[in-house]
Order: sequence, then structure tokens, then C-alpha cells
Amino acid sequence: MRIAMIGSGYVGLVSGACLADFGHVVTCVDKDPAKIAALQAGQMPIFEPGLAELVAKNVAAGRLFFTTDLTQPVREAKAVFIAVGTPSRRGDGHADLSYVYGAAREIAAVMDGFTVVVTKSTVPVGTGDEVERILGETRPDGDFAVVSNPEFLREGAAIGDFKRPDRIVIGTHDPRAEAVMRDVYRPLHLNHSPLLVTGRRTAELTKYAANAFLATKITFINEVADLCERVGADVQDVARGIGLDNRIGSKFLHAGPGYGGSCFPKDTLALMKTAQDSGAPMRIVETVVSVNDQRKRAMGRKVIAACGGSVRGRTIAVLGLTFKPDTDDMREAPSLSVITALQDAGARVRAYDPEGMGPAASMLDGVEYAADAYACLAGADAAVLVTEWEEFRALDLERVRDVMRAPVLVDLRNVYRPDHMAQAGFTYVSVGRAF
Ligand code: UGA
Repeated sequence: MRIAMIGSGYVGLVSGACLADFGHVVTCVDKDPAKIAALQAGQMPIFEPGLAELVAKNVAAGRLFFTTDLTQPVREAKAVFIAVGTPSRRGDGHADLSYVYGAAREIAAVMDGFTVVVTKSTVPVGTGDEVERILGETRPDGDFAVVSNPEFLREGAAIGDFKRPDRIVIGTHDPRAEAVMRDVYRPLHLNHSPLLVTGRRTAELTKYAANAFLATKITFINEVADLCERVGADVQDVARGIGLDNRIGSKFLHAGPGYGGSCFPKDTLALMKTAQDSGAPMRIVETVVSVNDQRKRAMGRKVIAACGGSVRGRTIAVLGLTFKPDTDDMREAPSLSVITALQDAGARVRAYDPEGMGPAASMLDGVEYAADAYACLAGADAAVLVTEWEEFRALDLERVRDVMRAPVLVDLRNVYRPDHMAQAGFTYVSVGRAF
């Protein structure tokens, strides 16, 4: 099948490459000529494990193309995916849909024959109706259907998530569109991934509900962690103890510095606004949003407390900057709040991250960057582990203690064990473990 993917950002590029790998002929379109030129030259605009290889393989096989002009690919495509950005609108927290509607207008102008227009971008409930209206207004004679098909990809694990999804959600009541979508995902369905066909609004809401529920789970365990610190309990064991109950499930119960990234913060805010505007406010989600915001700021204070109440004039080593490992994404990363709080309190901050230092440099002032973890720790008065990159899991603790001025480690991801750290001579503070 011929597929056009409008938007070659994170979602579009991963989805396009994976669909090409299923055997479809996919053209990824983007307005940014520099991005398309780079992709044509085999350079990825984002860091995602396995993506460069997957793109190269499918380009070589003649199934994956890149262009700035959507005319030809849309005209030839049976399915046109919209995978453009939906950032938070400045001021009110609603999703900004101007790119989605702009893409719909451009698609409408050139589509030919029965065309299934699929929104893959995360869009508020009712967006599909507006896309349908735009298409119909531009092409009253057009033969098309609008489908919602949300993505559930995690950065850093996106290719695996696409190829082995827990489920595929397809929002349409149009039988012809459903048949096309079943063809698109046939290889996955053959692999027994459940394919759920729902109404379009239901599919749109399912995406937000999934992200908000996961954000709630994280926020819940983070608050349990705070309580553990007060009452002398261990949050890791509590998480295991509740997670083994199948009704709860063990995933997304890892306490930490608060969730970040491009999805949870934006989507929880957008769901909150939709719910308020619809007269059915979701107070749980409202609370999750504010608890998480406060938590990120509180992490800076936790570091200051571990340093005896003041960091003025001290050097603090920050290990990990990105919002999670295996990505170069700094959006809403807890490190931003931690670093700002430390700088405001008069500390010098030196940081190291395997992938995030480039993006971080444009978001943070006055941070010194180190070439590796040990260079970052050299002469530091305390260290804070903010992102659990694999290479921070097995630091040579003797060497760390030797290079630091004082062996103080604040581990915001509970990577190390308190008893081991005490034995190794560290002043060790973690999350939700009161010893
Ligand atoms: C998230 C969802 O997991 C995907 O299913 C969804 O498709 C995606 O958003 C999206 O809407 O596009 P992602 O933001 O890439 O994916 O990252 P996650 O792995 O979900 O992590 C989000 C944040 O939660 C990170 O800051 C992470 O450190 C934090 N987290 C996660 C915890 O603090 N504890 C946990 O137990 C799990």
C-alpha cells in the first residue's frame, strides 16, 4: 500500500520507517527542507535507538522516501497520516492544532480517489470532526474518511513499541476506512496484537486517558515515596508489594523526580482543559499536574538539604540531563528545575549527559559541561543523579569517592542501594528510602 506521512518529526519518522518495514511504500513529508535534506543523506534529526538502521534499510529497499512536497505522495496514497506537532498553546494549555488543520487543508487540495486521512498526532476529542469538515469544505466532491489512530510510542523504545504494540486503536465507523486500516496493520494483527475499532472521539480520548492514567500512577508512587521517607518505609518494596497485584500492575511505579518529556506534561494539561471546558472536570488529573510541577522544584531543595542546608559557592555535579535515558530530549526534564534551583541557591553546576548536553546548552545558562561522568564528578562537593542512563548504573564507586571533594550522592532514580553506598563511604540520599 502507498502511504503518505505528513510530518517527519519523532512520531512521523518512526511510524513511517516501521510501516515501510512492514512492506508498504511510504513517503515522509516535512516542510523543513534542512530536515528532509538530512534524512535523504541518511542523517536522523533525533536520537532513537535503531532508527538510522531501519531508515537506511528501507530506503535501500525502495520503500521509504523523503520530500518537502506532499502533492505527489498524497495523490498516490490510500492512507495519509497526519503526524505533525501539537504543542501546548501559550497561555491556556490547550493543544495548538494549527499544524494539524494546515496539513488537512493541504491534503484536501491534492487527494485523489478514496483517501483515508489518519490523525496520528495526539489531538483533543473532536479534532477529527474538524479535519473532516475542512476536507469536505475544500473538496465537497471528495471521497475520503477521517480516522483517529493514536500512537503509544515511548521515546527510546519507539521501534519496539510500534512493532510489538500492546494494542492498536482505530477510531472510525466507516467500513471502507476500517478495511484500509486493517491492511495497514496486517503484519501486527497477524502477530496477535489486539486491534480495537472504536468511534473516532473514543479513540482520541483513549490516548489522553492512557497518558493521564500513567502520569497518575507515577505521581501516586512519588507521593508514597515522600510518605515512606517520613515513616521509615521503603518505596521500592511498597511498589513491588502493590505491583504484583495484577489489578495494579508493576510498571510505572518507579518513584523519581517527577515525570517530564514532551507527552505527559502536555497531554495531562490538555485533558484537564478539555474536561473543564466540557463541564466534567477531572480533579485527579488537575492534582497530578500540580503535584508533579511542585515535585520537580522540590528536588532542588532535596539536594540542598543533603548538602547540609546550603550549596552557596559549592560545585554540584549533575549526572543526566534528559527527561529519561536513551533520548536527547530535554523537554520538561526534571534536571531543568533541579539545576535552576541549585543555581538560584548559589551553587556552581557541572553536568554530564551522554546525549543531552547539546540541547541542554540552549536551555540553561551558566552550566559547565564535562566530557564524562568522572570529569563531571571531579572536585564536586556533591553529586545528583537525575537521569538513569545505563552508564551511571555501574560507576566505579571507589574512583567516584576519590575524585569528589565530598562523597555526597543524591540519587533521584534509586539506581544504587543504600546499604552498598553506606559501605562504600558515601552520604547517600535517594527517593522514598529512609536510611
Ligand atoms: C509516553 C508514554 O509512555 C507513551 O506510551 C506515549 O505514546 C508517549 O508518552 C506519547 O504520548 O507520545 P515517553 O514520554 O516517551 O512516553 O516516556 P515514558 O517512558 O512514558 O516516561 C515519561 C516520564 O515518566 C519520564 O520522565 C520518566 O522518567 C517518568 N517515569 C516513568 C517515572 O518517573 N517513573 C516510572 O515508573 C515511569
